[in-house]
Amino acid sequence: MLTNQRSQAIAQELDSRDPLANAKDKFFLPKDLIYLDGNSLGPAPKAAFADIEKTAHREWAQDLIGSWNSAGWFELPSKSGAVIADIIGAQNDEVVACDTTSINIFKALHAALSLRPERNVIVAEAASFPTDLYMVEGVASTTQSKTIRLEGVDAPEIETLIDENTAVVLVNQVDYRTGKTRDVGALTRHAQANGAIIIFDLCHSAGIMPVELNQHNVDLAVGCTYKYLNGGPGSPAFIFCANRHLADVQQPLSGWWGHQTPFAFDQSYSPDPGIRKFLCGTQPILSFRAMQAGLELTRQYDMREIRKKSMALTDLFLSEVMNFAEEYGVGLASPAKAESRGSQISLTHDSGYEIIQALIERGVVGDFRTPNIMRFGFAPLYISFQNVADAAAILKDILETEIWRDPRFKQKSAVT
Ligand SMILES: Cc1ncc(COP(=O)(O)O)c(C=O)c1O
Repeated sequence: MLTNQRSQAIAQELDSRDPLANAKDKFFLPKDLIYLDGNSLGPAPKAAFADIEKTAHREWAQDLIGSWNSAGWFELPSKSGAVIADIIGAQNDEVVACDTTSINIFKALHAALSLRPERNVIVAEAASFPTDLYMVEGVASTTQSKTIRLEGVDAPEIETLIDENTAVVLVNQVDYRTGKTRDVGALTRHAQANGAIIIFDLCHSAGIMPVELNQHNVDLAVGCTYKYLNGGPGSPAFIFCANRHLADVQQPLSGWWGHQTPFAFDQSYSPDPGIRKFLCGTQPILSFRAMQAGLELTRQYDMREIRKKSMALTDLFLSEVMNFAEEYGVGLASPAKAESRGSQISLTHDSGYEIIQALIERGVVGDFRTPNIMRFGFAPLYISFQNVADAAAILKDILETEIWRDPRFKQKSAVT
């Protein structure tokens, strides 16, 4: 064991009084693996496999097309949306699960523009996850004379970019690279005081911290379920629209699933009056079923407990790493204060890619984001304080021995 005695004692003490300690038994995780990448893809909840089996063998193989009714397949987007709503502080009829986050960003941006047709500015963050920016570009190219203003390019702070011309502000609650959080309430108030609509991307906050969309009067939000909601690879994303906007809002992907009477097979489009107007076409039922267990599992826990442990986990990792970081040229990209960051610690190093590969070989899974960021996500439902102390000790060992210099760690795969 590489962890020193003092760190061992701290980790053991914290684990002994952790109310979430037993939750990890609900996941499949390879023995001895320290999985710090739940911010990219959460592990498989054990309960998901019974759902997948049942859907494949019974609903698909035996009941076939009848399952659209008998197994409630058609209702899955709203039913799953209602569970997600509980987790992110919305009402059950304000969230629908569907499509991907990227597609939902497209719909949400258009929806916001439909509420502010007289305005022409879209505000976003240059540092946001690239797909958010690409979708902003795509939406601007499909609408007339829209101007894009970016935090980090047109001004250092997003607040100063929002004015009487701003139609919509698209912003991440947690920055994917650094883990830095936004003050959802303050930014929503600022955007709305200027008459703009605000959309939050919750990919790095849903399932890991209180979001409280309605408490903060947020207009629209999107997010994925394959990270901290443990929905499985490529699981459906979600979209939230506040009830007060549902009657007026429009989105252009007017597929038949968003129609108010899809099985009337009308020749013209007439949107569902509720949240289902954000649906487009047939949804991936197997993926919906695989996602169910992760959502239900997360809903069982008090989000304040999850946040409390998440902050303690990241604090412990940071304090352990800071004991040796400077000596080996490791910097901190995340906010130093737990309240100002999500559930990740991002470290910098010029050879970050190689160090992450060396860690993976030693059973500590994090990931690398260009140009020099090593990301470590700490999901409180399956990460222990002991895992944290061990991960920090293994990182120190890799830096000390410089094993990461071995040429085998330089090889780049398609997905980092
Ligand atoms: C903040 C953020 N937004 C959007 C996405 C992309 O989502 P999707 O691939 O589901 O479209 C990601 C993916 O990691 C993300 O981190």
